[in-house]
Amino acid sequence: MGDTDSKIKNELLEDFSKVFGDNDGVRVFFAPGRVNLIGEHTDYNGGHVFPCALTLGCYGAARKRSDRKLRFYSKNFEELGIIESSLDELTPDERAHWTNYPKGVMWAFEGRGMKADTGLDLLLYGTIPGGSGLSSSAALEVLTGYILRDFYGFDVTNTDLALIGQYSENNFNGMNCGIMDQFASAMGKKDNAIFLNTADLSFEYAPLVLKGEKIVVTNSKVKHSLVDSAYNERRSQCEQALKELQSVVDIKTLGDLSEEEFEKNKGAVKDEICRRRTKHAVYENRRTIKAIEALKKNDIAEFGRLINLSHVSLRDDFEVSCPEVDVLVDAAWKVTGCIGSRITGGGFGGCSVSIVKNEAVDEFKEKLTAAYREKVGKEPEFYVVEAGDGPREII
Ligand code: GLA
Repeated sequence: MGDTDSKIKNELLEDFSKVFGDNDGVRVFFAPGRVNLIGEHTDYNGGHVFPCALTLGCYGAARKRSDRKLRFYSKNFEELGIIESSLDELTPDERAHWTNYPKGVMWAFEGRGMKADTGLDLLLYGTIPGGSGLSSSAALEVLTGYILRDFYGFDVTNTDLALIGQYSENNFNGMNCGIMDQFASAMGKKDNAIFLNTADLSFEYAPLVLKGEKIVVTNSKVKHSLVDSAYNERRSQCEQALKELQSVVDIKTLGDLSEEEFEKNKGAVKDEICRRRTKHAVYENRRTIKAIEALKKNDIAEFGRLINLSHVSLRDDFEVSCPEVDVLVDAAWKVTGCIGSRITGGGFGGCSVSIVKNEAVDEFKEKLTAAYREKVGKEPEFYVVEAGDGPREII
């Protein structure tokens, strides 16, 4: 247990007492957020992704109750106070605010025949900056699933926790996300990234012990509105294109197409915008496969080049970047010691991820801060991140 973990655990136990009266029998759990290195908007297209879990994430202090009540409290939304519900009210409700995530997971477990027989008191604390695109919601879903499995003895694997989290986010919270975020959180492994084939959930861990470089996440601190609807729209455009392509090639997903096959058959996709979306999905998937090969050969320069190409494609063809993140990425590309930089996650704001030589990290921060102040009038935030472990109890 790291220092931070034990410190946070003690604080949460104290907070739990203050909020819920006492902390007898309370246990503390953690599930990580994630950053994706490459393979963006490929996970709902049967393609590959390459995320890693973070050491940042979501902590939860929890205790079973003897009745059917659910009581939630978040240190990140203290102004909301205790939000009460019950196991008999597992339906989405705007007034339930963030508790729609844990409730959605309980609902999804119930749908699979795994019903909690008693309620819970749950106090949460997230260390992922809100709206940063580092998957605080997936962390919360995996955390809830992990606690339910432990408390009620449900027979599920960590992969199931990821699938249940995704299912609840899709069907309870109305965000048609792919599997990447929940999978990265549930299957995280210290010092490793996860090379996941979303077509069949086969995966391998890839050691991510960069000797001369750091992974720097830069938070633009902007989140544009209608993110979920724009995301869902991208997804349906890809689905539309897949249907059209299936009339000319025998494929199950866009991930089955090579670049050459796409170029040969792209005429089947009638709408120009859908064609560009498809181009991104196909090329990004291939870039991800090549990126892992490059990393295995220790060819970090090639890895960086593919990361940069990913940004261009997300910006121009998939159109999920935004002017603020483009400022950060453009400034990063000008720093000699920056090997690669791109927007990460769903997009429309949030963070960029960059691979930066150790000795260039300070210069990187200075240059990006200056550019961002000048062009956006805001201060970005930097996190030098490490790949962390998946969900666990903090003992
Ligand atoms: C969001 C979704 C993921 C994935 C990314 C884009 O984070 O939750 O499933 O689609 O966007 O790669």
